[in-house]
Amino acid sequence: MPPHTEATFLFLLLLCFFSATAKGGRFARLGINYGTLGDDLPSAARSVHLLHSIGAGAVKIYDANPAILRALAGTRFRVSIMVPNEIIPSLGVNASAADAWVGTNLGPFYPAVRVRYLLVGNEILSYTSLANSTWPFLVPAMVNIHRALSARSIRDVKVGTTLAMDALVTSFPPSAGAFRSDIAEPVMRPLLRFLHRTRSYYFVDAYPYFAWASNPSSIRLDYALFTSNASFNYFDPGSKLTYTNLFDQMLDAVAAAMGRLGSGDVRIAVAETGWPNAGDLDQIGANVHNAAIYNRNLARRLAARPAVGTPARPGAVMPVFVFSLYNENQKPGPGTERHWGLLYPNGSKVYEVDLSGRRPLDSYPPLPPPDNNEPYKGKIWCVFGGDRKAAANATTVGAALAYACGQGNGTCDAIRPGGPCYKPNTLLAHASYAFNSYWQQFRQAGGTCFFDGLAVQTKTDPSYGTCKYASLTN
Ligand SMILES: *[C@@H]1O[C@H](CO)[C@@H](O)[C@H](O)[C@H]1NC(C)=O
Ligand SMILES: *[C@@H]1O[C@H](CO)[C@@H](O)[C@H](O)[C@H]1NC(C)=O
Ligand SMILES: *[C@@H]1O[C@H](CO)[C@@H](O)[C@H](O)[C@H]1NC(C)=O
Ligand SMILES: *[C@@H]1O[C@H](CO)[C@@H](O)[C@H](O)[C@H]1NC(C)=O
Ligand SMILES: *[C@@H]1O[C@H](CO)[C@@H](O)[C@H](O)[C@H]1NC(C)=O
Ligand SMILES: *[C@@H]1O[C@H](CO)[C@@H](O)[C@H](O)[C@H]1NC(C)=O
Repeated sequence: MPPHTEATFLFLLLLCFFSATAKGGRFARLGINYGTLGDDLPSAARSVHLLHSIGAGAVKIYDANPAILRALAGTRFRVSIMVPNEIIPSLGVNASAADAWVGTNLGPFYPAVRVRYLLVGNEILSYTSLANSTWPFLVPAMVNIHRALSARSIRDVKVGTTLAMDALVTSFPPSAGAFRSDIAEPVMRPLLRFLHRTRSYYFVDAYPYFAWASNPSSIRLDYALFTSNASFNYFDPGSKLTYTNLFDQMLDAVAAAMGRLGSGDVRIAVAETGWPNAGDLDQIGANVHNAAIYNRNLARRLAARPAVGTPARPGAVMPVFVFSLYNENQKPGPGTERHWGLLYPNGSKVYEVDLSGRRPLDSYPPLPPPDNNEPYKGKIWCVFGGDRKAAANATTVGAALAYACGQGNGTCDAIRPGGPCYKPNTLLAHASYAFNSYWQQFRQAGGTCFFDGLAVQTKTDPSYGTCKYASLTN
């Protein structure tokens, strides 16, 4: 190699090294959502240690939990905290209340905790029940919080709010992205103006998993997992842009919706994304295999420098937070809700993933094969069991049984004295019957087999003798 080439090579190598440490260290690492809806989660101090072990660069919490903030003080993690939905109206009408909130919740920890984003509310535009009570106060609350920060000379904390994909009425093709008409003018227009003026971000919760799982016959799984090949790229006829994955498509739909309101320059951050590592029998594609592939590819993609961005915003650098740190056993809803974690509650990894994105994909150990990428076709029942059955006692099971029997028509007739399922006359046998009876009636209306962690789906028919458990064919 001639000397000048060697010098150039060395220079380039150093340049790469410095840009990797400057940018890679400061911007590239994925953040993680640290939710706490579990009764078996590690302490805040241990959790901070675990954040290091997965290579996270930033962490987002769902409140301003003082124990967690204390544990984060003095660490390098960039931190995002949230203002609860319930107090948005008061912060919107009362600037002193906003100032007091900042003083109480941020004051003791800033700047020892590197707070970077203060998110006012969580997906409030997804709840039409909040339309009158809260939506009109969202932007005023953000303005008041922003002023309170400025008054305290806090300039490195951006104010935002998180929004689900249902803020859009259209998201396909991406170039047709548009906000719902009930929010576009009254909320989105002033919100985008605020985000633009304060150089903040539009924080979106973007889950290719949900888009794919609700439509697995028309969306390819590998397109949702970043592993699609070029023959399945999507060409958007409106923008003439080519898409290689669903994540980009979703973000560009948001960008297009913002563009329609004249705010196409507001940057996008992803407040939540991820893939569940397990779920109920009647859910599809929630497994360790897919979750690992999704999050590993996401980390690689976002660590790439120069930044990849999206087809509509090539090169855009985006803060992104994976959901979530732990499997949380008290999250209500279908089984996937309790299985988004990179870690089990005991701190061990559900699968290997390096959120810094430095680890090459081919260096990971092999994954277990996916066991539910096709819909399960057989019958399913719902019985006593579940993640929290070990903690069950007469009070908690009794309450769940009473709830189940109080819903629907004749839900528990068969376990009344003289009924075919009365015997064995035990709390657990009756609970199993009641959980199933409730769930078979309500599952199509969104009822879940959960009962605070005391119920689980099974493929095994629990019927016995003349006691018959109902079942719909899945
Ligand atoms: C506004 O908030 C401050 C601080 O929390 C409180 O003392 C005051 O009573 C509030 N004012 C109104 C009108 O609610
Ligand atoms: C909001 O207010 C409008 C007009 O007063 C009313 O029609 C609507 O039912 C209210 N919505 C809710 C969720 O309270
Ligand atoms: C893409 O995947 C399909 C189906 O797996 C395969 O038949 C095809 O050869 C692949 N194309 C390329 C360019 O890799
Ligand atoms: C942690 O919990 C998981 C899931 O329950 C289990 O498979 C694993 O063995 C546990 N690890 C340790 C070290 O206890
Ligand atoms: C039953 O469990 C609940 C929740 O785990 C607990 O709060 C309660 O004290 C327990 N009651 C009894 C009687 O053990
Ligand atoms: C019970 O059945 C009646 C008549 O079919 C129906 O109107 C009512 O809504 C049902 N109640 C519940 C709680 O499902």
